Amino acid sequence: MANKDLINQVAKRRIFGIISHPDAGKTTLTEKLLLHGGAIREAGTVKAQKNSKYAKSDWMEIEKQRGISVTSSVMQFEYDEKMVSIMDTPGHNDFGEDTYRVLTSVDSAVMVIDAAKGIEAQTKKLFQVCRMRGIPIFTFMNKLDRQAKDPLELMEELEEVLGMPSVAVTWPIGSGMQFEGVYDRLENEVHLFRKDEVIKLGKDGVHGPELEAHLESTNLENLRDEVDLLEGAGNEFNIELVQSGELTPVFFGTALVDFGVTPFLNHFLDMSPAPGPRKTINSEVNPTDETFSGFIFKIQANMNPAHRDRIAFVRICSGVFERGMNVMLSRTGKQIKLSQSTQLMANDRETVDKAYAGDVIGIYDSGTYQIGDTITAGKQKIFFEPLPTFPPELFLRVSPVNSLKSKHFHKGVEQLAQEGAIQVYKNEFNEVILGAVGQLQFEVFEYRLKNEYGSDIRKDHVDYNIARWVKTDDVKGLKKYQDMRNMLVFDRFERPLFLFANEFTFNRFQERHEELELVEALDVN
Ligand code: G4P
Repeated sequence: MANKDLINQVAKRRIFGIISHPDAGKTTLTEKLLLHGGAIREAGTVKAQKNSKYAKSDWMEIEKQRGISVTSSVMQFEYDEKMVSIMDTPGHNDFGEDTYRVLTSVDSAVMVIDAAKGIEAQTKKLFQVCRMRGIPIFTFMNKLDRQAKDPLELMEELEEVLGMPSVAVTWPIGSGMQFEGVYDRLENEVHLFRKDEVIKLGKDGVHGPELEAHLESTNLENLRDEVDLLEGAGNEFNIELVQSGELTPVFFGTALVDFGVTPFLNHFLDMSPAPGPRKTINSEVNPTDETFSGFIFKIQANMNPAHRDRIAFVRICSGVFERGMNVMLSRTGKQIKLSQSTQLMANDRETVDKAYAGDVIGIYDSGTYQIGDTITAGKQKIFFEPLPTFPPELFLRVSPVNSLKSKHFHKGVEQLAQEGAIQVYKNEFNEVILGAVGQLQFEVFEYRLKNEYGSDIRKDHVDYNIARWVKTDDVKGLKKYQDMRNMLVFDRFERPLFLFANEFTFNRFQERHEELELVEALDVN
């Protein structure tokens, strides 16, 4: 029998990440959620960190130079008896594999869309990762204070561009200058924008007389038509489908003005799942199992260059973490005492003494951990299902400037690949090709190789943008498929893959060689 405290603590936890395209309003929405949760007192705090005005002295030099945050943090606050954690998903210039990997640690995702622009490229990529993992996705259509696309059109886009069925929970009444509020379909009430007033509607909903004195007549007419359309042709709300990631509830509002955020937050916390069981390679672990376990989904290096320390981010999957506890690293069987642990909050790192399943903590790492590692306080080794490899889109050939230092170079390359900072491939000439999702990964790689391994690197641009793994037993036979338009390389597990310049050359290759099974990295574990 699990203890009561643990059961209660798990039930109140909600952990999610925000996925969006740059400038859709992720930072602004995060800030408003933190304000509602009392985690920050003034607007501007998160923004300031984003703009690095409060850059910490121990951040990497590269962060300071570029004025961005490489550090992804967890923001935790209590709201309506729930313990809510927002995992930061780095976007903009610091978009990289870590952004994807953060999504393996969350139980749901909030997709923020600029309602004037609709679905944009980065949102689509991040959405696909959530979809693949069956993570429930909640959609917030933002910037309704500006002229927005037709809301029905935005709903259609979800279906057509993302292939995601949607159900409107709140519905906008006008937009831009004509924006008058949102209608909450589940609560049957209208939140008025300018008056900050909530009108409870009667049994006739938007067709009753209550709204007539409040809304401009065209807006009211449109609202009535649109609500009828939604009732007639829209999807029905279904909590099971929401929680299995097959139906996205949609909300409208403006993060900047902080309107529509409250109904969103309340419904989101009601509908989003508490931590659930996590699959291991031969069974599963329940969050309320008393034996502590967790997995490492991110390793943050050099937060303090003077000590060269690293922080491993752990998603706790079961039991209770207590500072100073002994755990076993399943990969090696080694016992480790977790004496230095931190919670990575919006503005500060705090020491954490106790944490529960559904929390993310940072533990001190002197080079022991790898991405995907499992730690447990039990005697039995636990291996959670492996984290996926994400398809890189940028490639670079690198070599040591000073060949006498090539040993350091190779050691650094191996270590950084293990850490998950970058993907490393070798071609038939034993040249090192790096693969990344974001440009910053290359810069961090170069910086760390120089600073931690004393190796300057030479970089050669290679003209490839697509990688496909090959499923084959005849690795030797792959050589004959190489030509001027592709390159055969091997990843660090010796698995073969082809690199292509673009979709066109990839498609041509696939057509000519139907006998080869080429897969996106996403499918390869
Ligand atoms: P991001 O993290 O997704 O990249 O977006 P961020 O929140 O930084 O927002 C991008 C820009 O959009 C910001 O303007 C922000 O103020 C604005 N914004 C966010 N939500 C809303 C909204 O609901 N309505 C309107 N009208 N604007 C919104 P900026 O000019 O780039 O930055 P700033 O000078 O305002 O800080």
